[in-house]
Amino acid sequence: MQDALAFLKQQIRTVPDWPEPGVQFRDITPLLSNPRAFRVLIDQFVHRYFDQQPTAVAGLDARGFIIGSVLAYELNIGFVPIRKKGKLPFTTVEETYELEYGNATVEMHTDAVKTGDRVVLIDDLIATGGTMMAGKRLLERLGATVIEGAAIVDLPELGGSKRLRDSGLPLFTLVDFE
Ligand code: PRP
Ligand code: ADE
Repeated sequence: MQDALAFLKQQIRTVPDWPEPGVQFRDITPLLSNPRAFRVLIDQFVHRYFDQQPTAVAGLDARGFIIGSVLAYELNIGFVPIRKKGKLPFTTVEETYELEYGNATVEMHTDAVKTGDRVVLIDDLIATGGTMMAGKRLLERLGATVIEGAAIVDLPELGGSKRLRDSGLPLFTLVDFE
């Protein structure tokens, strides 16, 4: 397990001062393009959720779609996209939140989940936690239970994971960066 996590961490590239000065951008694209690393990554999440009977995986736009859709496929359950505002065609609910840089609004289709659904909410990274918190609120407004928030990377110094856990959301993350 520790070996797998160290291996995954090595595949993540740090790009300094992107998209603006002072941000250390943790880029998962090398991890995704390495087939062995991508499989090790997805297997971590499959093993975590296989026995928990989730009914759906909800992925956060855009990098959460890449891992969330593969996880849903492997668990044989549906995938629900939580999209940036203005992309979904049917009736939606929305939440606005702040990012490490800027702010954003995310939306879900009102029929994407229903009362009683048990959802894994997934993204690539937790920084301030604003994105995942907005996703949790949307899912709960539609009657679903978020069984856990999941991410590849946590940036604990930004306080997002603590904030999310303090709000009552269990979290599963694989790699920390300071
Ligand atoms: C990034 C990242 C998370 C979010 C984390 O997405 O993929 O979704 O920021 O930040 P937070 O914890 O402070 O909310 P971004 O909004 O840059 O969008 P992208 O996936 O489309 O690049
Ligand atoms: N999203 C928010 N902060 C980020 C960071 N430092 N690296 C990659 N994605 C991010």
